[in-house]
Formats: sequence, C-alpha cells, structure tokens
Amino acid sequence: MLEVENVSTMYGRIQVLWDVSLAVREGETVALVGANGAGKTTLLETVSGMLKPASGRIAFRGKRIDGLPSHAIVELGISHIPEGRRLFPEMSVRENLEMGAYLARVWKDKQEILDRVFQLFPILHARQGQLARTLSGGEQQMVAMGRGLMSRPSLLVIDEPSSGLAPLVVDEMFRIIETLRGEGIAILLIEQNVQQTLEIATRAYVLENGRITLEGASRDLLHEDLIKKAYLGL
Ligand SMILES: Nc1ncnc2c1ncn2[C@@H]1O[C@H](COP(=O)(O)OP(=O)(O)O)[C@@H](O)[C@H]1O
Ligand SMILES: [Mg+2]
Repeated sequence: MLEVENVSTMYGRIQVLWDVSLAVREGETVALVGANGAGKTTLLETVSGMLKPASGRIAFRGKRIDGLPSHAIVELGISHIPEGRRLFPEMSVRENLEMGAYLARVWKDKQEILDRVFQLFPILHARQGQLARTLSGGEQQMVAMGRGLMSRPSLLVIDEPSSGLAPLVVDEMFRIIETLRGEGIAILLIEQNVQQTLEIATRAYVLENGRITLEGASRDLLHEDLIKKAYLGL
C-alpha cells in the first residue's frame, strides 16, 4: 500500500534521513520505533508531503506521491495525525473536526463521518461545542484522531498519540487504535510505549540516527536484545 524506497530528507544542508525504506500493506499496523531525534517525525512528514525528500521515492497504491502537496496526499487517502495534536485552540471541538473534512471527496458525507467519529469518541459528542483549548490532553488527542478520520483515510500515520497522557488514558488510546485497525484502516504508528506498540503492531521498524537498523515481525522484535535493552528497559 505504502512504499518508501531509499528516502533521504534534509533540512537545508543538514541530512536527517538516510536511504530509509519501509512498507505498509493494506490493513496492516506498522510501528516505527526510535529514540528522540532519530528522525521519526521527519519520516512521517516526508510521507504526508509536508517535507519533500532530497532523493528516493514514495508510492501509495502504486502511484508516486513524493513531491505532491499535502492536500493531494490527503485526497488519496493518507491522513497524518501530528505530534503535539496541533488543534485550533480557539475553535470548538466540532469545528476542529470539520476542518478534517474539507476535501471534495468527503465533504458531502461530512455529517455521516462526524456521526461515526462521535460513536468512536462519545466524549467528543458531549463536548462538541466546547473550545479545544479547554479539553484535557486525552480529549485533545481524541479530537486530533477524529479530525484525521474525517477525510476517511485508508492509511493513518500517527505521531506519538500517547505523549504526555496519564497511563489510563494511554490504555484508552491503544484501544482506540485497535478499533481503527479492526475497521481495516492501515496504520503507521510512532510511539514511546514500545512494549504496548509492539503488542498491537504486525511489523515494526527501528530508526536510529536517521537510518533503519532493524525491521521484522513485532512479536519477534519483542525478544530482540537491542529492543529489550534500548526500548523496553529489560
Ligand atoms: N525544522 C527543522 N530544522 C532543522 N532540523 C530539524 C527540524 N526538525 C527536526 N530537525 C532535526 O532532525 C532530527 C530528527 O528530528 P525528528 O524527526 O523530530 O526526530 P524524532 O521525531 O525521532 O524525535 C533532529 O536532530 C532534529 O533536531
Ligand atoms: Mg518526533
């Protein structure tokens, strides 16, 4: 479904990604694991068109997408839920959600999709008129996820959804991700909770200093010494 081949990304003259290759198949949940500063966010931003790779190619369902503007990539079915949520703080929950449905492809189904998002996140239905800045961290993350779903994506790329959340809320976030997976949406997930992430993902990649150093089935990686020492604290 998503094929990233030998992608290198630079910020000006500083190279951050080096020949990164990664794939996500239809309906699959893939984890991207790595220390702070490894280049995980840069990779997701390169996939969603916010950054243009200096070399390499990215294809989605057989169509080349590197170099396309972000909105064209959303139109094709990739939705990016950014690190730090990036909501419009002075807009209501409902207005924030509707921002995700501006595409021609889904605008006419906006109400139907919104109802589905409210089914997934009943608390957002109750708070739809409330300003985004007045929500708790977990609720704000739900708005960010809901907004990402409003474009009816077939691939969700999610950057650290549980960052800064209390453990119970983190568990809730993982349950939501499992629900989305159950609906057949493919997911590329960055997470600091490596154990929980490897438990829900089919496959995983480890990114170190901008290079993929390990990849494999998640349940195998849970037993890799590198993963145990560096990410699971075992
Ligand atoms: N806008 C930017 N300009 C220059 N360097 C950046 C920018 N954003 C990130 N970087 C650098 O790129 C590297 C990777 O960052 P990032 O992709 O955010 O890593 P991660 O998400 O894995 O923590 C870091 O060294 C970071 O300082
Ligand atoms: Mg990051």
